[in-house]
Amino acid sequence: MRNLPHLFANNRAWAEAISTEDPEFFSKLSRQQSPQYLWIGCADSRVPANEIVGLLPGELFVHRNVANVVVHTDLNCLSVIQYAVDVLKVTDIMVVGHYGCGGVIAALEQRPLGLIDNWLRHIQDVMRRHETVMGGLASVETRTRLLCELNVIEQVTNVCQTSMVQDAWNRGRPLAVHGWVYGLANGLLHDLEARVGPEDDLATVYRRAVEIAAARAISLP
Ligand code: CO
Repeated sequence: MRNLPHLFANNRAWAEAISTEDPEFFSKLSRQQSPQYLWIGCADSRVPANEIVGLLPGELFVHRNVANVVVHTDLNCLSVIQYAVDVLKVTDIMVVGHYGCGGVIAALEQRPLGLIDNWLRHIQDVMRRHETVMGGLASVETRTRLLCELNVIEQVTNVCQTSMVQDAWNRGRPLAVHGWVYGLANGLLHDLEARVGPEDDLATVYRRAVEIAAARAISLP
C-alpha cells in the first residue's frame, strides 16, 4: 500500500512556512476556533473555500457536499449549521455554488451516475420549479449557468428556513445568509443578490434574486 509521502512532505513544508511567519499560530489555533463565517459549498476539488476568500485556518467553518445542496432532513448539514450558529456564533452563512458544476450538469442532463442520482434529484426539483424560464433558453451553456445560480438561491432559502436560523433571527441575532457563485474560469466570486437578514422578507429576496438571474440568462446569447 502506498503511504503518499509527497503529501506528508507538502504538509511539513506548509506547517513550517506558517510557523515561520507566526510561531504561535498553531498553538493559538489549537486552543480555540472562532470563525465568523460558515461556507456551504460544492465538494468540487477546484473550489477550495479558504483559498478563494483568502482566509486562514480558523477563520472559515466549512461544509461541502456535491452541488452545495441543503436538504431539510440532512442531519450532517443541519448539524454543521446548528453548531456554527449556536456554538460558534457565526455572523454570516454563504452558500457558494460554481459555474460548470458537475452535479448540476448531471441533474440537467439526467445522466445516470449511480447512488448520487438520488442526491441530484434535489437539483432536478429546482429545475422543475423554474421550468418556464429554463425551457425558454436555447443554449445548454446558458441553461447550465442559470441552474447553477438558481440552485444557490434555492439553497439559501433552505438555510433560512432551518429552525436554527429562524430561532437566531427570533432572538434578534444579526445573522445573514448569502448566495454566491464562483467562476472556475476566472477565479472570481459573484454575489447573486440573494442576501437575507433578520429584517428581510425571504419570499421577496428569493423572487428578486430569481428574476435577476433569469433576466441575466435571457440576455446571454
Ligand atoms: Co460542483
